[in-house]
Amino acid sequence: MNHIFRRMLCSSLTSAQRSAAPLLSAAARNSSFWSGVEMGPPDAILGVSEAFKRDSNPKKINLGVGAYRDDAGQPFVLPSVHKAEMKIMSAGLNKEYAPIGGEADFCTASAKLALGEDSTVVRDGLNVTIQGISGTGSLRVGTAFLSKWFPGNKTVYLPKPSWGNHTPIVKHAGMEVGGYRYYDAGTCGLDFAGAVEDIKKIPEGSIIMLHACAHNPTGVDPTAEQWKELSEVVKAKKLLPFFDMAYQGFASGDVDKDAFAVRQFIADGHMILLSQSYSKNMGLYGERTGAFTVVCKDKDEAARVESPIKIIVRPLYSNPPRHGARIVTQILNTPELRSEWLVDVKTMADRIITMRTQLKDGLTKEGSSLNWQHITDQIGMFCFTGMKPDQVERITKEFSIYLTKDGRISMAGISSSNVGYLAHAMHTVTK
Ligand SMILES: Cc1ncc(COP(=O)(O)O)c(C=O)c1O
Repeated sequence: MNHIFRRMLCSSLTSAQRSAAPLLSAAARNSSFWSGVEMGPPDAILGVSEAFKRDSNPKKINLGVGAYRDDAGQPFVLPSVHKAEMKIMSAGLNKEYAPIGGEADFCTASAKLALGEDSTVVRDGLNVTIQGISGTGSLRVGTAFLSKWFPGNKTVYLPKPSWGNHTPIVKHAGMEVGGYRYYDAGTCGLDFAGAVEDIKKIPEGSIIMLHACAHNPTGVDPTAEQWKELSEVVKAKKLLPFFDMAYQGFASGDVDKDAFAVRQFIADGHMILLSQSYSKNMGLYGERTGAFTVVCKDKDEAARVESPIKIIVRPLYSNPPRHGARIVTQILNTPELRSEWLVDVKTMADRIITMRTQLKDGLTKEGSSLNWQHITDQIGMFCFTGMKPDQVERITKEFSIYLTKDGRISMAGISSSNVGYLAHAMHTVTK
Protein backbone atom coordinates (compact mmCIF):
# COMPACT_ATOMS: atom_id res chain seq x y z
CA MET A 1 0.00 0.00 0.00
CA ASN A 2 2.71 2.35 1.10
CA HIS A 3 4.74 2.17 -2.12
CA ILE A 4 1.64 2.55 -4.34
CA PHE A 5 0.70 5.70 -2.43
CA ARG A 6 4.25 7.04 -2.80
CA ARG A 7 4.25 6.38 -6.56
CA MET A 8 0.93 8.25 -6.95
CA LEU A 9 2.30 11.11 -4.90
CA CYS A 10 5.52 11.34 -6.94
CA SER A 11 3.73 11.40 -10.29
CA SER A 12 1.65 14.40 -9.18
CA LEU A 13 4.69 16.42 -7.95
CA THR A 14 6.48 19.29 -9.74
CA SER A 15 10.16 18.63 -10.59
CA ALA A 16 11.30 20.74 -7.59
CA GLN A 17 8.98 18.78 -5.37
CA ARG A 18 10.20 15.54 -6.97
CA SER A 19 13.82 16.29 -6.12
CA ALA A 20 12.74 16.46 -2.49
CA ALA A 21 11.02 13.08 -2.85
CA PRO A 22 14.10 10.98 -1.92
CA LEU A 23 14.01 12.70 1.48
CA LEU A 24 10.45 11.58 1.85
CA SER A 25 11.26 7.98 1.00
CA ALA A 26 14.38 8.07 3.21
CA ALA A 27 12.14 9.15 6.07
CA ALA A 28 9.79 6.31 5.25
CA ARG A 29 12.75 3.91 5.20
CA ASN A 30 13.60 4.86 8.79
CA SER A 31 10.84 2.58 9.97
CA SER A 32 12.70 -0.33 8.40
CA PHE A 33 12.40 -3.98 9.32
CA TRP A 34 16.16 -4.02 9.81
CA SER A 35 16.63 -1.31 12.47
CA GLY A 36 17.37 -4.06 15.01
CA VAL A 37 20.11 -5.69 12.92
CA GLU A 38 23.47 -5.53 14.67
CA MET A 39 26.83 -5.08 13.00
CA GLY A 40 28.98 -8.22 13.32
CA PRO A 41 32.76 -8.31 13.79
CA PRO A 42 34.83 -8.06 10.59
CA ASP A 43 36.26 -11.33 9.27
CA ALA A 44 39.63 -11.85 11.00
CA ILE A 45 41.50 -12.63 7.78
CA LEU A 46 39.69 -10.45 5.26
CA GLY A 47 39.98 -7.56 7.75
CA VAL A 48 43.78 -7.89 7.52
CA SER A 49 43.58 -7.60 3.70
CA GLU A 50 41.44 -4.47 3.99
CA ALA A 51 43.98 -2.80 6.29
CA PHE A 52 46.78 -3.87 3.91
CA LYS A 53 45.00 -2.22 0.95
CA ARG A 54 44.75 1.09 2.81
CA ASP A 55 48.50 1.16 3.62
CA SER A 56 50.57 3.28 1.20
CA ASN A 57 54.02 1.97 2.29
CA PRO A 58 55.65 0.53 -0.88
CA LYS A 59 57.36 -2.14 1.25
CA LYS A 60 54.08 -3.46 2.69
CA ILE A 61 53.54 -7.25 2.74
CA ASN A 62 50.26 -9.13 3.13
CA LEU A 63 50.83 -12.41 4.96
CA GLY A 64 47.23 -12.73 6.12
CA VAL A 65 45.30 -14.46 3.37
CA GLY A 66 46.05 -18.07 2.43
CA ALA A 67 46.30 -17.79 -1.33
CA TYR A 68 49.38 -18.80 -3.30
CA ARG A 69 51.49 -16.09 -4.94
CA ASP A 70 54.40 -16.60 -7.33
CA ASP A 71 57.86 -15.22 -6.59
CA ALA A 72 56.80 -11.89 -8.12
CA GLY A 73 53.95 -11.74 -5.57
CA GLN A 74 51.30 -12.34 -8.22
CA PRO A 75 48.32 -14.75 -8.19
CA PHE A 76 49.22 -17.91 -10.08
CA VAL A 77 47.12 -19.70 -12.69
CA LEU A 78 48.61 -23.18 -12.99
CA PRO A 79 49.77 -23.93 -16.57
CA SER A 80 47.94 -27.28 -16.38
CA VAL A 81 44.73 -25.46 -15.40
CA HIS A 82 45.15 -23.06 -18.30
CA LYS A 83 45.57 -25.97 -20.73
CA ALA A 84 42.54 -27.77 -19.30
CA GLU A 85 40.49 -24.61 -19.78
CA MET A 86 41.57 -24.36 -23.42
CA LYS A 87 40.43 -27.94 -23.99
CA ILE A 88 37.10 -27.24 -22.33
CA MET A 89 36.57 -24.10 -24.40
CA SER A 90 37.35 -25.89 -27.65
CA ALA A 91 34.93 -28.70 -26.76
CA GLY A 92 32.09 -26.13 -26.88
CA LEU A 93 30.24 -27.65 -23.92
CA ASN A 94 26.82 -26.36 -22.93
CA LYS A 95 25.85 -24.67 -19.67
CA GLU A 96 23.09 -27.05 -18.59
CA TYR A 97 22.65 -27.74 -14.88
CA ALA A 98 24.93 -30.35 -13.30
CA PRO A 99 23.25 -33.15 -11.33
CA ILE A 100 22.57 -32.31 -7.65
CA GLY A 101 25.72 -34.12 -6.56
CA GLY A 102 27.85 -32.97 -9.51
CA GLU A 103 29.16 -35.06 -12.40
CA ALA A 104 29.97 -38.69 -11.65
CA ASP A 105 33.37 -38.47 -13.42
CA PHE A 106 34.44 -35.59 -11.21
CA CYS A 107 33.31 -37.40 -8.06
CA THR A 108 35.10 -40.64 -8.94
CA ALA A 109 38.32 -38.84 -9.90
CA SER A 110 38.22 -36.84 -6.65
CA ALA A 111 37.62 -39.90 -4.49
CA LYS A 112 40.50 -41.72 -6.19
CA LEU A 113 42.82 -38.75 -5.77
CA ALA A 114 42.21 -38.83 -2.02
CA LEU A 115 41.78 -42.53 -1.33
CA GLY A 116 44.23 -43.82 -3.93
CA GLU A 117 43.95 -44.94 -7.55
CA ASP A 118 43.65 -48.56 -6.41
CA SER A 119 41.29 -47.81 -3.51
CA THR A 120 39.09 -50.81 -2.72
CA VAL A 121 36.53 -48.43 -1.22
CA VAL A 122 36.07 -46.78 -4.63
CA ARG A 123 36.34 -50.10 -6.49
CA ASP A 124 33.59 -51.65 -4.37
CA GLY A 125 31.33 -48.56 -4.47
CA LEU A 126 31.48 -47.96 -0.70
CA ASN A 127 31.96 -44.21 -1.05
CA VAL A 128 29.32 -41.58 -1.52
CA THR A 129 31.09 -38.62 -3.13
CA ILE A 130 29.38 -35.44 -4.19
CA GLN A 131 30.82 -32.25 -5.62
CA GLY A 132 30.73 -29.53 -2.97
CA ILE A 133 31.10 -25.76 -3.15
CA SER A 134 34.82 -26.10 -2.52
CA GLY A 135 36.10 -27.16 0.91
CA THR A 136 33.85 -24.83 2.89
CA GLY A 137 30.68 -25.99 1.15
CA SER A 138 31.71 -29.63 1.46
CA LEU A 139 32.24 -29.22 5.20
CA ARG A 140 28.92 -27.41 5.49
CA VAL A 141 26.98 -30.13 3.67
CA GLY A 142 28.86 -32.75 5.68
CA THR A 143 27.96 -31.14 9.00
CA ALA A 144 24.34 -30.71 7.88
CA PHE A 145 24.25 -34.43 7.13
CA LEU A 146 25.78 -35.24 10.53
CA SER A 147 23.41 -32.87 12.29
CA LYS A 148 20.42 -34.76 10.90
CA TRP A 149 21.68 -38.34 10.76
CA PHE A 150 24.63 -38.95 13.06
CA PRO A 151 23.29 -41.27 15.78
CA GLY A 152 25.95 -40.42 18.39
CA ASN A 153 26.99 -37.34 20.33
CA LYS A 154 26.40 -34.34 18.05
CA THR A 155 29.57 -32.57 19.07
CA VAL A 156 32.46 -32.07 16.67
CA TYR A 157 35.85 -32.05 18.42
CA LEU A 158 38.32 -29.71 16.71
CA PRO A 159 42.07 -29.43 17.20
CA LYS A 160 43.08 -26.43 19.31
CA PRO A 161 43.57 -24.22 17.38
CA SER A 162 41.77 -25.02 14.15
CA TRP A 163 40.87 -23.21 10.93
CA GLY A 164 38.77 -20.23 12.01
CA ASN A 165 35.78 -21.24 9.89
CA HIS A 166 35.37 -24.72 11.43
CA THR A 167 33.53 -23.50 14.52
CA PRO A 168 30.96 -21.36 12.65
CA ILE A 169 30.43 -24.15 10.11
CA VAL A 170 29.69 -26.69 12.85
CA LYS A 171 27.47 -24.25 14.74
CA HIS A 172 25.53 -23.22 11.62
CA ALA A 173 24.73 -26.88 11.17
CA GLY A 174 23.27 -26.90 14.69
CA MET A 175 25.95 -28.96 16.39
CA GLU A 176 28.20 -28.33 19.35
CA VAL A 177 31.93 -27.70 19.21
CA GLY A 178 34.47 -29.41 21.46
CA GLY A 179 38.26 -29.42 21.31
CA TYR A 180 41.41 -31.41 21.87
CA ARG A 181 44.94 -30.16 22.50
CA TYR A 182 47.04 -29.97 19.37
CA TYR A 183 49.58 -27.14 19.31
CA ASP A 184 52.36 -26.71 21.84
CA ALA A 185 53.22 -23.01 22.06
CA GLY A 186 56.39 -23.90 23.96
CA THR A 187 57.92 -25.88 21.09
CA CYS A 188 55.86 -24.37 18.21
CA GLY A 189 55.21 -28.05 17.40
CA LEU A 190 52.66 -30.78 18.02
CA ASP A 191 51.47 -31.52 21.54
CA PHE A 192 51.09 -35.20 20.72
CA ALA A 193 50.79 -36.43 24.30
CA GLY A 194 48.20 -33.72 25.02
CA ALA A 195 46.24 -34.63 21.88
CA VAL A 196 46.15 -38.33 22.79
CA GLU A 197 45.20 -37.58 26.39
CA ASP A 198 42.34 -35.29 25.30
CA ILE A 199 41.08 -37.60 22.56
CA LYS A 200 40.89 -40.40 25.12
CA LYS A 201 38.55 -38.20 27.15
CA ILE A 202 36.16 -37.47 24.26
CA PRO A 203 32.82 -39.22 24.90
CA GLU A 204 32.50 -42.41 22.85
CA GLY A 205 30.59 -42.04 19.62
CA SER A 206 31.47 -38.39 18.96
CA ILE A 207 32.89 -36.74 15.83
CA ILE A 208 36.53 -35.72 15.57
CA MET A 209 37.77 -33.26 12.94
CA LEU A 210 41.27 -33.98 11.64
CA HIS A 211 43.28 -31.85 9.22
CA ALA A 212 44.55 -34.40 6.70
CA CYS A 213 47.78 -32.47 6.05
CA ALA A 214 49.26 -28.97 6.35
CA HIS A 215 47.27 -28.09 9.47
CA ASN A 216 45.83 -24.59 9.30
CA PRO A 217 46.76 -22.34 11.13
CA THR A 218 49.79 -24.01 12.71
CA GLY A 219 51.55 -25.84 9.84
CA VAL A 220 52.15 -28.64 12.36
CA ASP A 221 51.30 -32.21 11.26
CA PRO A 222 51.65 -35.54 13.07
CA THR A 223 54.33 -37.90 11.73
CA ALA A 224 53.29 -41.13 10.00
CA GLU A 225 53.87 -43.06 13.25
CA GLN A 226 51.82 -40.54 15.22
CA TRP A 227 48.96 -40.79 12.71
CA LYS A 228 48.96 -44.58 13.19
CA GLU A 229 48.73 -44.13 16.94
CA LEU A 230 45.98 -41.52 16.59
CA SER A 231 44.05 -43.93 14.39
CA GLU A 232 44.15 -46.54 17.18
CA VAL A 233 43.02 -44.05 19.82
CA VAL A 234 40.20 -42.76 17.62
CA LYS A 235 39.12 -46.34 16.96
CA ALA A 236 39.20 -47.32 20.62
CA LYS A 237 36.89 -44.40 21.42
CA LYS A 238 34.57 -45.28 18.50
CA LEU A 239 34.87 -41.74 17.15
CA LEU A 240 33.82 -40.77 13.65
CA PRO A 241 36.82 -39.15 11.90
CA PHE A 242 35.94 -36.23 9.63
CA PHE A 243 39.03 -35.35 7.57
CA ASP A 244 39.38 -31.87 6.17
CA MET A 245 41.81 -32.11 3.26
CA ALA A 246 42.29 -28.60 1.87
CA TYR A 247 45.96 -28.95 0.92
CA GLN A 248 46.56 -32.32 -0.76
CA GLY A 249 49.88 -32.03 -2.60
CA PHE A 250 50.43 -28.54 -1.33
CA ALA A 251 52.15 -29.67 1.85
CA SER A 252 54.93 -31.92 0.58
CA GLY A 253 54.55 -31.49 -3.17
CA ASP A 254 53.37 -35.12 -3.40
CA VAL A 255 49.61 -35.84 -3.50
CA ASP A 256 50.05 -39.43 -2.30
CA LYS A 257 52.30 -38.53 0.61
CA ASP A 258 49.84 -35.85 1.74
CA ALA A 259 47.00 -38.42 1.64
CA PHE A 260 48.82 -40.71 4.08
CA ALA A 261 46.59 -40.08 7.09
CA VAL A 262 43.33 -40.50 5.16
CA ARG A 263 44.49 -43.76 3.59
CA GLN A 264 45.91 -45.08 6.88
CA PHE A 265 42.60 -44.49 8.67
CA ILE A 266 40.73 -46.28 5.89
CA ALA A 267 43.20 -49.18 6.00
CA ASP A 268 42.55 -49.35 9.74
CA GLY A 269 38.84 -49.78 9.08
CA HIS A 270 37.54 -46.28 9.89
CA MET A 271 34.45 -45.20 7.98
CA ILE A 272 35.65 -41.67 7.49
CA LEU A 273 34.03 -38.50 6.24
CA LEU A 274 36.17 -36.37 3.94
CA SER A 275 36.09 -32.85 2.63
CA GLN A 276 38.35 -31.97 -0.32
CA SER A 277 39.21 -28.62 -1.80
CA TYR A 278 40.85 -27.73 -5.10
CA SER A 279 41.37 -24.11 -4.07
CA LYS A 280 45.03 -24.47 -3.18
CA ASN A 281 46.34 -27.51 -5.04
CA MET A 282 44.85 -26.43 -8.38
CA GLY A 283 44.63 -22.72 -7.57
CA LEU A 284 40.88 -22.81 -8.24
CA TYR A 285 40.00 -20.51 -5.31
CA GLY A 286 37.20 -18.56 -6.96
CA GLU A 287 35.84 -21.51 -8.92
CA ARG A 288 34.63 -23.05 -5.64
CA THR A 289 35.45 -26.66 -6.45
CA GLY A 290 35.66 -29.47 -3.91
CA ALA A 291 34.10 -32.74 -2.86
CA PHE A 292 32.46 -34.39 0.12
CA THR A 293 32.76 -38.12 0.73
CA VAL A 294 31.22 -40.55 3.19
CA VAL A 295 32.73 -44.03 3.39
CA CYS A 296 29.99 -46.59 4.06
CA LYS A 297 29.76 -50.21 5.17
CA ASP A 298 28.35 -51.56 1.91
CA LYS A 299 26.81 -50.52 -1.38
CA ASP A 300 23.29 -50.55 -0.02
CA GLU A 301 24.23 -48.21 2.81
CA ALA A 302 26.02 -45.93 0.34
CA ALA A 303 22.87 -45.65 -1.76
CA ARG A 304 20.82 -44.75 1.35
CA VAL A 305 23.39 -42.19 2.56
CA GLU A 306 23.51 -40.46 -0.83
CA SER A 307 19.80 -39.74 -0.76
CA PRO A 308 19.62 -37.38 2.28
CA ILE A 309 22.80 -35.63 1.16
CA LYS A 310 21.10 -34.72 -2.11
CA ILE A 311 18.03 -33.67 -0.15
CA ILE A 312 20.25 -31.27 1.84
CA VAL A 313 21.88 -29.84 -1.29
CA ARG A 314 18.71 -29.27 -3.33
CA PRO A 315 17.22 -26.39 -1.28
CA LEU A 316 20.66 -24.97 -0.38
CA TYR A 317 22.12 -24.33 -3.85
CA SER A 318 20.34 -26.88 -6.05
CA ASN A 319 23.43 -28.11 -7.88
CA PRO A 320 27.11 -27.17 -8.03
CA PRO A 321 28.92 -24.89 -10.52
CA ARG A 322 30.38 -26.61 -13.57
CA HIS A 323 33.52 -24.88 -14.75
CA GLY A 324 35.90 -25.74 -11.89
CA ALA A 325 34.70 -29.34 -11.83
CA ARG A 326 35.32 -29.63 -15.57
CA ILE A 327 38.88 -28.35 -15.10
CA VAL A 328 39.54 -30.88 -12.31
CA THR A 329 38.07 -33.78 -14.30
CA GLN A 330 40.04 -32.82 -17.39
CA ILE A 331 43.29 -32.67 -15.42
CA LEU A 332 42.82 -35.80 -13.34
CA ASN A 333 41.57 -37.93 -16.24
CA THR A 334 44.04 -36.82 -18.94
CA PRO A 335 47.42 -38.50 -18.28
CA GLU A 336 49.60 -35.72 -19.79
CA LEU A 337 47.69 -32.97 -17.98
CA ARG A 338 47.75 -34.90 -14.75
CA SER A 339 51.55 -35.29 -14.96
CA GLU A 340 51.88 -31.60 -15.70
CA TRP A 341 49.63 -30.73 -12.76
CA LEU A 342 51.72 -32.86 -10.39
CA VAL A 343 54.74 -30.80 -11.48
CA ASP A 344 52.78 -27.55 -10.92
CA VAL A 345 51.79 -28.64 -7.40
CA LYS A 346 55.38 -29.50 -6.61
CA THR A 347 56.55 -26.14 -7.98
CA MET A 348 54.22 -24.34 -5.55
CA ALA A 349 55.13 -26.55 -2.58
CA ASP A 350 58.85 -26.24 -3.32
CA ARG A 351 58.71 -22.45 -3.57
CA ILE A 352 57.11 -22.35 -0.14
CA ILE A 353 59.65 -24.76 1.31
CA THR A 354 62.45 -22.56 -0.13
CA MET A 355 60.91 -19.47 1.46
CA ARG A 356 60.87 -21.25 4.82
CA THR A 357 64.60 -21.92 4.58
CA GLN A 358 65.35 -18.37 3.40
CA LEU A 359 63.31 -16.84 6.22
CA LYS A 360 65.02 -18.97 8.85
CA ASP A 361 68.47 -18.20 7.38
CA GLY A 362 67.57 -14.50 7.20
CA LEU A 363 66.74 -14.46 10.91
CA THR A 364 70.08 -16.07 11.71
CA LYS A 365 71.88 -13.50 9.53
CA GLU A 366 70.06 -10.72 11.36
CA GLY A 367 71.64 -12.09 14.52
CA SER A 368 68.52 -13.55 16.14
CA SER A 369 69.39 -15.78 19.07
CA LEU A 370 65.90 -17.33 19.13
CA ASN A 371 65.23 -20.85 17.91
CA TRP A 372 63.41 -20.58 14.54
CA GLN A 373 63.68 -24.28 13.68
CA HIS A 374 59.87 -24.54 13.60
CA ILE A 375 59.77 -22.36 10.46
CA THR A 376 61.26 -25.21 8.44
CA ASP A 377 59.71 -28.02 10.51
CA GLN A 378 56.19 -26.76 9.86
CA ILE A 379 54.57 -27.56 6.55
CA GLY A 380 52.15 -26.14 3.98
CA MET A 381 50.76 -22.69 3.38
CA PHE A 382 51.13 -21.36 6.92
CA CYS A 383 53.72 -20.83 9.59
CA PHE A 384 52.82 -20.23 13.21
CA THR A 385 55.76 -17.96 13.97
CA GLY A 386 55.30 -17.78 17.72
CA MET A 387 55.14 -13.95 17.55
CA LYS A 388 53.01 -12.57 20.38
CA PRO A 389 50.08 -10.17 19.78
CA ASP A 390 52.14 -7.10 20.81
CA GLN A 391 54.90 -8.16 18.38
CA VAL A 392 52.32 -8.62 15.63
CA GLU A 393 50.99 -5.14 16.36
CA ARG A 394 54.52 -3.69 16.16
CA ILE A 395 55.47 -5.44 12.93
CA THR A 396 52.31 -4.12 11.30
CA LYS A 397 52.71 -0.58 12.64
CA GLU A 398 56.46 -0.21 12.08
CA PHE A 399 57.00 -2.35 8.96
CA SER A 400 53.58 -2.53 7.26
CA ILE A 401 53.65 -6.32 7.48
CA TYR A 402 50.13 -7.68 7.83
CA LEU A 403 49.22 -10.99 9.50
CA THR A 404 46.61 -12.41 11.83
CA LYS A 405 46.90 -11.61 15.55
CA ASP A 406 47.80 -15.22 16.41
CA GLY A 407 51.20 -14.76 14.73
CA ARG A 408 50.32 -16.89 11.69
CA ILE A 409 51.97 -15.94 8.41
CA SER A 410 51.02 -17.17 4.97
CA MET A 411 54.29 -18.43 3.50
CA ALA A 412 52.80 -17.88 0.04
CA GLY A 413 53.01 -14.11 0.52
CA ILE A 414 56.81 -14.28 0.91
CA SER A 415 59.09 -13.89 -2.10
CA SER A 416 62.83 -13.71 -2.71
CA SER A 417 62.51 -9.91 -2.90
CA ASN A 418 60.74 -9.40 0.45
CA VAL A 419 62.08 -12.26 2.61
CA GLY A 420 65.07 -10.20 3.79
CA TYR A 421 62.85 -7.30 4.82
CA LEU A 422 60.54 -9.73 6.65
CA ALA A 423 63.45 -11.40 8.49
CA HIS A 424 64.75 -7.98 9.55
CA ALA A 425 61.29 -6.92 10.77
CA MET A 426 60.69 -10.20 12.65
CA HIS A 427 64.07 -9.95 14.34
CA THR A 428 63.47 -6.31 15.31
CA VAL A 429 60.15 -7.02 17.04
CA THR A 430 61.22 -10.27 18.72
CA LYS A 431 64.71 -9.40 20.06
C1 LIG B 1 41.69 -26.16 6.86
C2 LIG B 1 40.87 -25.60 5.75
N1 LIG B 1 39.73 -26.21 5.43
C3 LIG B 1 38.96 -25.76 4.44
C4 LIG B 1 39.29 -24.64 3.72
C5 LIG B 1 38.33 -24.25 2.66
O1 LIG B 1 38.74 -23.57 1.59
P1 LIG B 1 37.84 -23.46 0.30
O2 LIG B 1 36.44 -23.25 0.72
O3 LIG B 1 38.42 -22.29 -0.44
O4 LIG B 1 38.04 -24.71 -0.45
C6 LIG B 1 40.47 -23.95 4.04
C7 LIG B 1 40.85 -22.73 3.35
O5 LIG B 1 41.65 -21.92 3.76
C8 LIG B 1 41.29 -24.45 5.07
O6 LIG B 1 42.44 -23.88 5.41
